[in-house]
Amino acid sequence: MIRFDTSSGRLASQAADCLAIGLFDEERLEGPARELDVASKGQLRRLRADGDISVKPGDVQLLLQLPGVRARRVLVVGLGRRADFNRRAWRKAVGVALAACLKGRSAHLAIAIERPDAKLLGDYYLGRAVADLSSAAVYRVNDFKSGRRPRPPALKRVTLAGISAAARTAAAKGLAHGADIGAGQSMLRDLGNLPGNVCTPRYLADQARAIARAHASVRVRVFDESAIRRLKMGCLLAVSRGSAEPPRFIVLEHRGGRPGAKPVVLVGKGVTFDTGGISLKDPAAMDEMKYDMCGAGSVLATLRTIAAMKLPINVVGLIPAVENMPDGRATKPGDIATSAAGKTVEILNTDAEGRLILCDALHYARRFDPAAVVDIATLTGACVIALGHHFTGVMGNDDALAQELVQAGTDADDRAWQLPLTEDYAEQLRSNFADMANVAGRDGGAITAGAFLGKFTQGMKWAHLDIAGSAWNSGAQKGGTGRPVALLTQFLLQRTGRLP
Ligand code: BES
Ligand code: MN
Ligand code: ZN
Repeated sequence: MIRFDTSSGRLASQAADCLAIGLFDEERLEGPARELDVASKGQLRRLRADGDISVKPGDVQLLLQLPGVRARRVLVVGLGRRADFNRRAWRKAVGVALAACLKGRSAHLAIAIERPDAKLLGDYYLGRAVADLSSAAVYRVNDFKSGRRPRPPALKRVTLAGISAAARTAAAKGLAHGADIGAGQSMLRDLGNLPGNVCTPRYLADQARAIARAHASVRVRVFDESAIRRLKMGCLLAVSRGSAEPPRFIVLEHRGGRPGAKPVVLVGKGVTFDTGGISLKDPAAMDEMKYDMCGAGSVLATLRTIAAMKLPINVVGLIPAVENMPDGRATKPGDIATSAAGKTVEILNTDAEGRLILCDALHYARRFDPAAVVDIATLTGACVIALGHHFTGVMGNDDALAQELVQAGTDADDRAWQLPLTEDYAEQLRSNFADMANVAGRDGGAITAGAFLGKFTQGMKWAHLDIAGSAWNSGAQKGGTGRPVALLTQFLLQRTGRLP
């Protein structure tokens, strides 16, 4: 864990062993660059004139023992043209500085990279971003390699330097929140990266118990297979039938708000491995279906985060956890299951299993008389086709709630985009043999999946986050992203009405 603090002192006297500043593509030096240039009697300007420092975005130059500067290492990050500089460019520059600092194995980094206009990035969000970017930078994949372990990152302390005395309180609050959110993101990344033979429904239940043990505000209840049967969760059980791993239904409660205040209920898809079942998936990239529990992981990680932050709000986390496997006992295409809500479902495709476990969990949410229900799921490949990997898909039956989530994503740099979930889409789910089918063809697949869930949330304010594109990276950088923990935490923070 990194320790974070703020400093309003002179940059040249910072005691850190590495100090990062930015340099714009402009004649006159301003801000931190000017301060170090004056302290070093014009050395920065000379280096720039000699072509030894680049101002190109993404470029970074390490300067050793800059005269008049206490920090032994100074990192100068190119910021490009000031007119093009925004929050995203600033985040990139901070990321570049962190990477360079980690490479040099500095233990204490002071960041004084000029920030964009306060309208684009206020003091609180400045602190938040520095902390969550730092946490992400020191994250190491939880691999199972048997060779010598690489040395852990040396970075132990990050100082947000060169900020005004007036900004310090808000920035420090941001750093503290960002550190908690960063820890939550790392937890989710770890959970997602674990292989399916380790991260099983029972493993997720153990994680939930550990969170409740560590935080007095959190309670947990775990339902085993026979208890799930008593809850009449026939759709969940239809998915789990083919698996040797027993299912679990996990209920977590963070009681931080007024007793009796209506809770926000978060529901996370916990398919710890999705083979597709009898509607077996293609072998290519099937390994990535170990990430099919990232909805569940984000509920666990968000509950831990808000418990650590002691957020004054009541939040319930519901996690249906199963494995989706083919087997002699597995559900077959055409089988009909009865949901906890009493509606029957013709399971035309056993690979559309997420909505089946979610519909039973969403029905369970009713008993809490929730202020809002948000489900989080790696639900459809179609959502990845629609939005790619940059945005989480948002749908629901309440536009205000959907926009609240979109706004939270923007503010937390964990973006989401609303898709139109109108009544039209539900019509595609007709079945000749049951109340509805679980699939509706390829067209608009992300939305028809949402429409299926919508049949179980009538009368509740509900939104659905499809994180199929945002929860993990494929390819050489394969690994969980930690999304959407920042979005969800921001959403809950907004609801407390106590955002700095
Ligand atoms: N977990 C998958 C969705 C998924 C696929 C996420 C690929 C990320 C990458 C989900 O259970 C699934 O299989 N959905 C099907 C639905 C279809 C059968 C209607 C899909 O998207 O193909
Ligand atoms: Mn599936
Ligand atoms: Zn799935």
